Amino acid sequence: NNSKILGVNSGKRRFVSVRVQTTTEMRAMPEDRMLVFVPPHPLIKHWISVLRNEQTPCPIFKNAMAELGRLLMYEASRDWLPTIGGEIQSPMGVASVEFIDPREPVSIVPILRAGLALAEHASSILPATKTYHLGIVRDEETLQPTVYLNKLPEKFPEGSRVFVVDPMLATGGTVVAALELIKERGIDNKQIKVISAIAAPPALQKLSDKFPGLHVYAGILDPTVNDKGLILPGLGDAGDRSFGT
Ligand code: PRP
Ligand code: MG
Repeated sequence: NNSKILGVNSGKRRFVSVRVQTTTEMRAMPEDRMLVFVPPHPLIKHWISVLRNEQTPCPIFKNAMAELGRLLMYEASRDWLPTIGGEIQSPMGVASVEFIDPREPVSIVPILRAGLALAEHASSILPATKTYHLGIVRDEETLQPTVYLNKLPEKFPEGSRVFVVDPMLATGGTVVAALELIKERGIDNKQIKVISAIAAPPALQKLSDKFPGLHVYAGILDPTVNDKGLILPGLGDAGDRSFGT
């Protein structure tokens, strides 16, 4: 049931992207559903196309992934990062200003390896973040995820906002394992935004079933996953293509 996945009436189409346009539109979304946002932006389309191209060489692929991550994190921050107001002296006089509130903790959780490329610009666009690495790899046969590195804190600071960054949401095993580890450490679904390049139906269905209230940001939604767990048409193996292995 795709309308359940996306929290909108999907009609006959297999997928409907929820287009984030205005604050009012976002506030009108139901709060208890998992929602997927595919921000409509020509640069997002451009970088997805560069990533899909099998001719794209490794360094350009990695750069495209980083640029896509920057745009998606920018979109996901809209109406989510709290600001603090004040007054500041500009060269021309006193101005009312707003800064990102440094008292509100923001964390990045890149899922190694491929998440490192997508999260590359996180610390430059999001002031004062902490990065907690999570290494998860799928078994190539069973597609079961194994956690091989866990740098998550014992407890996240109260009121944390957490960006979970992984380019590919395929069968969903990896992102579900990551979210479970994060939730055990004092985080609710609504405190998490998943940032991904390409998301596929099995992963979105699992997220929708398990994490109501979660928001997922994707560059694009693809229709299927093959029996090797690769998204079709997808872009191949994001980790291998980012690091040239
Ligand atoms: C890939 C990808 C995701 C995961 C998605 O990682 O980067 O983390 O698989 O698959 P799933 O939704 O079916 O779990 P991979 O295991 O290839 O590790 P890597 O990033 O080190 O290449
Ligand atoms: Mg891989």
